[in-house]
This record gives sequence, structure tokens and C-alpha cells, in this order.
Amino acid sequence: MDLSSSFMGIKIANPLIVSSSGLTGSVDKIKACADNGAGAVVLKSLFEEQLITRKISMINQDEMYFWYPEAIQFVNSLSKDEGLAAYLKLIENAKKSVNIPVMASINCVTAEEWPRFAAEIEKSGADGLELNIFIPPTNINLTGYKMEETYVDIIHEVRKHVSMPLAVKVGFYFTNPYRMLYRISSLDVNSLILFNRYYRPDIDIDTMRVVAQNVYSSPVEITLSLRWIALISSRIHTEIVAATGIHDHQGVIKQLLAGATSVQLCSILYKNGISYLITLLNDLEGWMKQKGYENLASFRGLIAKNEANTEAFERVQFMKKTTGKYE
Ligand SMILES: Cc1cc2nc3c(=O)[nH]c(=O)nc-3n(C[C@H](O)[C@H](O)[C@H](O)COP(=O)(O)O)c2cc1C
Repeated sequence: MDLSSSFMGIKIANPLIVSSSGLTGSVDKIKACADNGAGAVVLKSLFEEQLITRKISMINQDEMYFWYPEAIQFVNSLSKDEGLAAYLKLIENAKKSVNIPVMASINCVTAEEWPRFAAEIEKSGADGLELNIFIPPTNINLTGYKMEETYVDIIHEVRKHVSMPLAVKVGFYFTNPYRMLYRISSLDVNSLILFNRYYRPDIDIDTMRVVAQNVYSSPVEITLSLRWIALISSRIHTEIVAATGIHDHQGVIKQLLAGATSVQLCSILYKNGISYLITLLNDLEGWMKQKGYENLASFRGLIAKNEANTEAFERVQFMKKTTGKYE
């Protein structure tokens, strides 16, 4: 059974990638990912603010509501230069410890300053770089057009400084995802990750404080990336990596059927442990055997190729024709 695929144009033994998070923030954890069968890992993001802000305490506390709790802790503990040096060391040590591709990740907010650091990351030996781009919509004067241009500027700026494989990880929040995803894929980018899932603050009504809840995704969240991957996978040539809400082998298979070349996993590995990768691989292989598929290419994108399916993914309103028994 051949489970091999590729990520950022680099061959991976199987399509399961451990996504950027605390699960990939230390050499020990990265080794555990490799030992349990991960096809590749994306290291925890190096946050741009960490690079361009000497004293993180200067950051407006309100903005932190858009961050992950681990990121706040990580960023608070490091100054700009220490942050970069520690990150480069993590890449070097990870590369020495495992044989699977090790991708770095940067969280970008502007097109300035940080491409220099991307170049440092390339020198440190990372196999690829994932740009985790999110422009916080917190400025009332910032238009959607300007925000989308910033995505393009960031990608162009980084490309000027590195020739390594590049991936772009984005959230869902575009006015017209079709156009934006097509536009990004027409730039010099090797993989598109759809979609990131951002930190979701909540309110504790007893303590009257903002709290970190809903840190992990639930399986129903898979439908957003599933829809968009099914809709665009046959129309763009960039590798598409599915992310968010993939909690079992059925989720992995659905994303491959929709046209993804690989999947990124995070929440379910926090919940079940890294060794759950082995279960997922066995279950994927079991399903392929049962269906008579010898490799991923035999069924990748199968669902997206059928026009009736595309129409079903395009539909957004609940109608009798689409909901059937839910009348
Ligand atoms: C605790 C935690 C930390 C995360 N840190 C990062 C990060 O540093 N960079 C990043 O691009 N995504 C980060 N993410 C997002 C995950 O990589 C992933 O895209 C998201 O959780 C959706 O996948 P899932 O449904 O499998 O969890 C983090 C997620 C969690 C839960």
C-alpha cells in the first residue's frame, strides 16, 4: 500500500502532517511525531510581533484576544533576538533528530521587516516555510481590498528573500474566497493550507472575565475546508492541504476525496495523544484495502470531479431538494 504524497513539493511517506502548535514546539515532541508515523511536521509559529517588538508588554492587551494562549506565554518569555535564535536552534536540532520533512512557520502581520528572518530560517536548514498569515480586522479604516493586498505583498516580500518551498496557511475570512485562493495560488507558492482555526475567546459569567475556551476544534468543523477544497481543487494547480476538524480516518479520506494532497492534524492529537497517528494510518490503509486502492492518487479528488457533487458543494441555502428528509 503506497500512502506517499507531497507537501510543498517535497515527498512525504504519508499524508498526515502534524500542524503548527505546541505539539511541534520542542525536539522531544517533534521526535514523538516522527516515531509515531507523521509524514511531516510544521513547527510552532514564530510570531512576527515577537520579531519586531522588543518589549512584548508594549502590545495592546486587546490584541491578545486573537492569539492562542500558548503563543502569549511563548512570546512573553522572549525578546526579539532571543526569539529568533531559539527558533533557529529548534529547526537545527529538529533536523538532526528526525528524517521526516521539518517545516518552519511564521505568523505574519505586515509586509515589512520579517522577510530577513525568513532568509535566516532558510539558512538554518528547514525543509520549507509555512506563512501563517492573518491580518487582524481591528482597524475600522482598513478596507477588505487593502487587507487582501497585504496578503499578496507578504508573499511577494518573502519570495524575494527565500527560494525554499513555501506554503501559505490562511483563515476563511475573505469576501470572495474563490478569488483570493486563486490569486494566492497563482503566486510562487507550493502549498495552500485551508483553513487555519483561530483562538476563540469566551466569557466566564461567574468571574466576569474573558477566558480561553473552545481551544480545540470539533469534528463538525471539517465541513468548511471540505467544501472549499472540493470546489477549488480541480481549478488550481497548487497542492492543497486540508486543516481544521479532521479527527478520524473518515475525515482524512473525505479531504483526500475532495482533492487535498495531505491533511494537517492538531486538536485530535492534543486530545488522543501523538500515537493516534498510528491508528489513523492503519484505518486509512484498511479503507484503501477494502476499496481496492493501492495509492492515494487512485481516489484523490474523485468527489470533486463529478459536476453534480460540485453543485452540491456550491449550494448554501437549505431547500427541500437538498435537505430531503429534513422538511
Ligand atoms: C494550542 C494550539 C496552538 C496553536 N498554535 C499555532 C501556531 O503557532 N501556528 C499556527 O499556524 N497554527 C496554530 N494553531 C492552529 C493549528 O495548527 C490548526 O491549524 C488548527 O487548530 C485547526 O486544526 P485542528 O482542527 O486539527 O485543531 C494552534 C492550535 C492550537 C489548538
